[in-house]
Amino acid sequence: MGIIPGCDKLVTNEFYDTTTIIDTIRDSTCVDFCHSDVNNTMDIARRQWENSGHAMTDPYSLRIGSDEASACGTSCHSEEGLLRSLGETASNDNFLSEIGCITCHAPHTTWDFSVRDTTAVTLADGASFDYSADTSNICAHCHRLDFKAGDYTLLGVIDPTWRVVAEHSMGDADLLAGVGGYEFSLPVDDLVHSHKDTAGCVTCHQKYAQGFTLGGHSLSIVSEGDLLADACNQDACHAGDVDATYMTDRQAIVASLIDNLKSRLIKLGWLDDSGDLDTSAIIPVGGADSLGALYNYFFMRNDGSMGMHNFGYDTLLLQRSLDYIGAAPPPKR
Ligand code: HEC
Ligand code: HEC
Ligand code: HEC
Repeated sequence: MGIIPGCDKLVTNEFYDTTTIIDTIRDSTCVDFCHSDVNNTMDIARRQWENSGHAMTDPYSLRIGSDEASACGTSCHSEEGLLRSLGETASNDNFLSEIGCITCHAPHTTWDFSVRDTTAVTLADGASFDYSADTSNICAHCHRLDFKAGDYTLLGVIDPTWRVVAEHSMGDADLLAGVGGYEFSLPVDDLVHSHKDTAGCVTCHQKYAQGFTLGGHSLSIVSEGDLLADACNQDACHAGDVDATYMTDRQAIVASLIDNLKSRLIKLGWLDDSGDLDTSAIIPVGGADSLGALYNYFFMRNDGSMGMHNFGYDTLLLQRSLDYIGAAPPPKR
């Protein structure tokens, strides 16, 4: 009985005697749901999470406790940051930790593994991201742009403030919702948004799992050449049409549009030879449409899905950018 009263005390924080110990331990949601001698749900979630970007030490070994953590926004790059942004008083004496279990869950409050926050998220351009039906809103707290195209295209120059656009890669929610790109003041038919309202982040990235490296809490769709086809091939979605070739063919189309645009922008002297920004230079460029093409290049390039979040929107805006730059070349610097 040595350990049990301790656990009981932790769980209920109430006075106990032998009878309540037995009652509480047997009925405890904690014990039923999380810990059992025949069920490994927690270990499975943890081993998948270990293979996710959220547990990766590359970004965090640099960022935890460093200036970079604040520069990129602690609310997206640490557990404590997100909790604080949700109004919790999370503090670990300024030690920031990676995006772990209690970033998304509050099991000692809710007594289950529901997501701790399911409210809709307002995107930078004002659109509401509401995929609460599949619990994806929590993802959009972090995986969204915190700037608008106009903040940059109206500057009239390419200068060091563009660094955020050039290096940040979190517009997943905006792309999925079909907003956030520079649209050249032309209408965008809603039909291009093939995934809008049909699938949230969790439906594709997490609902299905294959082992520890595909789907589930790994959140990976592709791993070492394997594809989480179950997620794409749900009846209401691609119903069996998607395999690795289907996906890589489309990703290749987007990649080649991006490459094409990159070459044009390099020729104009707006990007260095590797397609990145010279963050020490100030280049006068002028028109919003020219800068819009540059903006779209970074937005689409930095989205790790290569068109999979919104193939229609990516290809439309990349093509518009190419047409604009091709037809009326803006002045060289
Ligand atoms: C990025 C957010 C996020 C993180 C981090 C996270 N989870 Fe989850 N988890 C979810 C979502 C979303 C669901 C699905 C919830 C639903 O359908 O209500 C879920 C579901 C679960 C479930 C229910 C069964 C299942 O696997 O779907 C368990 C158990 C669970 N998580 C445990 C964990 C553990 C343990 C960790 C840490 C190792 C963790 N989670 C980290 C988002 C997260
Ligand atoms: C607290 C903020 C936060 C939340 C909530 C969050 N993420 Fe992340 N996510 C990140 C950060 C930060 C990274 C690491 C990106 C980097 O620096 O490379 C990341 C990485 C990822 C990656 C791997 C990217 C890569 O380049 O390998 C995927 C996929 C992903 N997240 C999906 C999701 C999904 C799906 C959800 C919702 C269930 C979610 N995330 C919730 C912040 C968050
Ligand atoms: C329609 C299915 C679908 C939806 C919905 C979806 N994704 Fe993706 N996502 C993909 C595919 C497919 C890829 C490409 C995977 C690859 O090539 O590695 C991807 C790639 C990513 C990547 C880059 C992963 C990497 O390894 O570089 C991140 C991060 C990501 N998605 C986050 C999200 C977030 C956050 C949401 C919700 C706002 C979301 N996704 C919604 C299908 C989806």
